[in-house]
Amino acid sequence: MDEHDEQIWTEVDHYIGTHLGVHDQGVDTALTSSVEAGLPEIAVSPPQGKLLMLLAASMGARRILEIGTLGGYSTIWLARALPADGELITCEYSSEHATVARQNVDRAGVGGLVDIRVGAALDTLPTLTGLFDLTFVDADKEHNADYFRLALRMSRPGSLIIIDNTVRGGAVVDASRTDPATEGTRALYAAVRDEPRVSATGIQTVGSKGYDGFLLARVLDV
Ligand code: SAH
Ligand code: DHB
Ligand code: MG
Repeated sequence: MDEHDEQIWTEVDHYIGTHLGVHDQGVDTALTSSVEAGLPEIAVSPPQGKLLMLLAASMGARRILEIGTLGGYSTIWLARALPADGELITCEYSSEHATVARQNVDRAGVGGLVDIRVGAALDTLPTLTGLFDLTFVDADKEHNADYFRLALRMSRPGSLIIIDNTVRGGAVVDASRTDPATEGTRALYAAVRDEPRVSATGIQTVGSKGYDGFLLARVLDV
């Protein structure tokens, strides 16, 4: 991957955006206000955000769990798939990020559907009750195997669990990479491999966010 690759991936994301409606005021303002507030620019890309919305809408999701809110960009996309009596609980460690996200989800018109829980997700998740139709995991990568197991406990047959950043520029297969995020990603693949109650796949992606990917697991009727 060189600079030219990155540039054309970004141009194609832009091209997709000009044709397929992945930009509008609600989501775009969430991104710009997050940048202005000094949050890291690591939200999902616009096409990825819309994919999350389409997946949630396709399965008729009524209850969504998110781990890693940041400024609420992916939160807004996911909440848009919900019916008026739906619910999205999103877990965020940083109270500063949560404050920015609160403003963004309210401004985008989905605030009534979104419950932001501030704290370490490993502390918050055991306090949640009920089942979720879809879980989007996008926080500290070292805990991804734990997040997957906890999400599975709060799933029903047919639920989806989607985990972001599971390729990380190919780091996952680079034996010299032993940082906690990469090891956490490998632990996630091992946890999914060893879990007979899900059917899963991994998709590599390129785009304005570089070379990465996501893992998607469907909970089975077992
Ligand atoms: N899903 C967002 C991006 C999330 S970035 C989007 O696509 O728009 C990752 C977020 O996870 C950051 O805001 C970070 O503060 C948060 N985070 C990191 N560790 C966490 C933890 N242990 N519990 C909850 N949130 C955490
Ligand atoms: C990082 C985190 C993300 O969730 C992401 O999509 C991209 C980058 C990061 O921590 O660098
Ligand atoms: Mg991510």
